Amino acid sequence: MGERKAMKASAAANANIAIIKYWGRRNDALRIPTNNSISFTMDDQLQTVTTVEFSKTLHADSLVLNGRPGTKTELARVSNFLDNVRAISGKRRVHANVVSKNSFPTAAGLASSASGFAALAAAATKAAGLGRYKDKKQLSALARLGSGSASRSIYGGAVEWLTGKRKDGSDCYAVQLSPPERWKDLRNVIAITSSKEKRISSTDAMARTVRTSEMFKCRLESVESRLRIVRKAILERDFAALAPTIMQESDSMHAVMLDSWPPITYLNGISLEIMHKVVELNESYGHGQRNAVAAYTFDAGPNAHIYTTAKYERQVQKLLAEMEGIEKVLVCRVGEGVRYPRKHLF
Ligand code: DP6
Repeated sequence: MGERKAMKASAAANANIAIIKYWGRRNDALRIPTNNSISFTMDDQLQTVTTVEFSKTLHADSLVLNGRPGTKTELARVSNFLDNVRAISGKRRVHANVVSKNSFPTAAGLASSASGFAALAAAATKAAGLGRYKDKKQLSALARLGSGSASRSIYGGAVEWLTGKRKDGSDCYAVQLSPPERWKDLRNVIAITSSKEKRISSTDAMARTVRTSEMFKCRLESVESRLRIVRKAILERDFAALAPTIMQESDSMHAVMLDSWPPITYLNGISLEIMHKVVELNESYGHGQRNAVAAYTFDAGPNAHIYTTAKYERQVQKLLAEMEGIEKVLVCRVGEGVRYPRKHLF
């Protein structure tokens, strides 16, 4: 951290929701996934802002998350990540104060680790004066080491995270498929069915799936063709082509979770009810594959992300309003990638 001025910096990043899922790694330490994944970055309603200050006078790293001290586990994960930044900058003994704030519930399946580590990677590299990390591919590969899905939150719009070929993970980063302004009428209606913390972390759960699920290999075979369908549908803004694949992909991931031993379940009763309601809504527009007006997807949590277009947003909201047990509904548009606010959190 030779640069004198840039010892403190802030960055903001938004959560993303995968429509082709990252669930399984071929290298756990380097977080290299078994397959490419594709996501949409969400808007500023699901945002993390983080300030990092490195100082030679500190004896340890510290973390404040949403106004409270980070737990031991949270601090260890942040410190481990900062070790990468320290190693790159050649200053192994300089510690940091980190303050981070989410605009949404942490660890409730709204992907706080994605926005969290994307913002941390951006703020820490800027604070360390590592100018070359303005390069998004490099920043994405670095954010990946904190949390796999964070590699995608570096960019706005539709984003693909590539597994790459190299053993060291240097070609394992995300790229933008299309910018946020390209699909303006796309909506993600998020139904929060529980804001409780999840029982098992994605990190542990996906390792268990790779180790124990017999159906996992079969899932990997179908992911390749889904990737092709989704890339094409995004470029052509073809919602009807996108919708069935989004739902099948979510179901496939939750199926291999259940097929793991001991089984992993993130969906709750309300999540399942939402799935059926979305299928019924689509069927009310006809039974053909090209009639879908909405598509559900779930990450490692029970909250539903229902993709639709502006034209059908009301219909989806109505469907949710008729249900019991939904805590909150958010309507998100496609959002931006990492940015660097001038105002610091401390
Ligand atoms: C279900 O990125 O949280 O959301 O790399 O262990 O931090 P770690 O996992 P994480 O896993 C996300 C899994 C998912 C699917 C996805 O975002 O692609």
